[in-house]
Amino acid sequence: MSTPSEQVAKRAVPTGHPRLRFPVRPIMGRWPGWLEALIGRVWTDPAAMFDPAAPDEVFAKAVGAVELGGTFKITQPDRHAACDDLLLDHVPLAGATIVDIGASDGSTSVDLIARLPADFAAYVIADRYLEVQAAHVGGCTLLFDPDDGRCILAFGKRWLAWPHRSRAIRLACSPLLVAEMVGRRQRAVVPLLNPRARALVAADPRVTVRVHDVFRPWDGPRPDVIKVANLLRRVYFGDDQIRAALDAIRTSLPDGGHLLVVDNPYLPIDARAGLYRRDGDRFALVALTAEVPEINDLVLHHDPDAAVGRQEVP
Ligand SMILES: C[S@@+](CC[C@H](N)C(=O)[O-])C[C@H]1O[C@@H](n2cnc3c(N)ncnc32)[C@H](O)[C@@H]1O
Repeated sequence: MSTPSEQVAKRAVPTGHPRLRFPVRPIMGRWPGWLEALIGRVWTDPAAMFDPAAPDEVFAKAVGAVELGGTFKITQPDRHAACDDLLLDHVPLAGATIVDIGASDGSTSVDLIARLPADFAAYVIADRYLEVQAAHVGGCTLLFDPDDGRCILAFGKRWLAWPHRSRAIRLACSPLLVAEMVGRRQRAVVPLLNPRARALVAADPRVTVRVHDVFRPWDGPRPDVIKVANLLRRVYFGDDQIRAALDAIRTSLPDGGHLLVVDNPYLPIDARAGLYRRDGDRFALVALTAEVPEINDLVLHHDPDAAVGRQEVP
């Protein structure tokens, strides 16, 4: 039987993304202003993810176009300050080991690390997808899912499209896909961690990067805190899958260890967060932001025996 991650990876078209019903977009600044205003929903050029000198926000927006494991890698610096406050205000972090699962390009990890006490022990920037494969064909770029080789993003100078989301887009991109296949050139590996996070990892041996699947228990040294932001969302996963991930997280923490759940909803409200403490085989609430995070009920009414996929957790 496959794990929740594998089930998501196998879905032909991942769970709907509220902002992406029509999977083609114009690239910002490449069209006449009036046309961009008319079409709306213009995107940052994804090519910025190949540019080590790209400003943080631009790099993060470029990476945010990548959809992997049924989730978009959407992130931005400076978007978790109030949520991270819960952790900083309630948990003694001197000597603590923190694991940040689903960290995308590391923007929000770098923000939190900058606010930790100087004597924190370790911070692991973790994500199931830390790189993609890329090929350049006919003036366009194609990105491929490292799990199954599907083309997950195609872009030229003026447009970007998500071929895995629509048969029509796959058909439109087929000349590029065929040319790439026939050319048999080596695909490049593109790191998805932003330059600021890479520099931090190089400078501070306590900050490391790891591939990790949220549906699996953590197999490194036991963390004191696990942060999961904008990954365990109902827009991406069903409740049973979220419960399976919470089960893996709970068993990864020592008794008294903390879980910080964050979400930035597609609503005109601030980011929401909940801080929970492992208390035996469940989580106890420590603190909430003004708005309650989407999965608060699942965290608090967590029944480990009901989690789907539990039998696959080693
Ligand atoms: C929406 S982004 C969240 C980024 C960041 N935490 C934030 O809030 O700004 C979701 C991230 O989860 C990662 N992801 C998807 N499936 C995963 C899995 N099974 N285990 C760990 N990370 C996963 C994606 O690669 C992506 O980087």
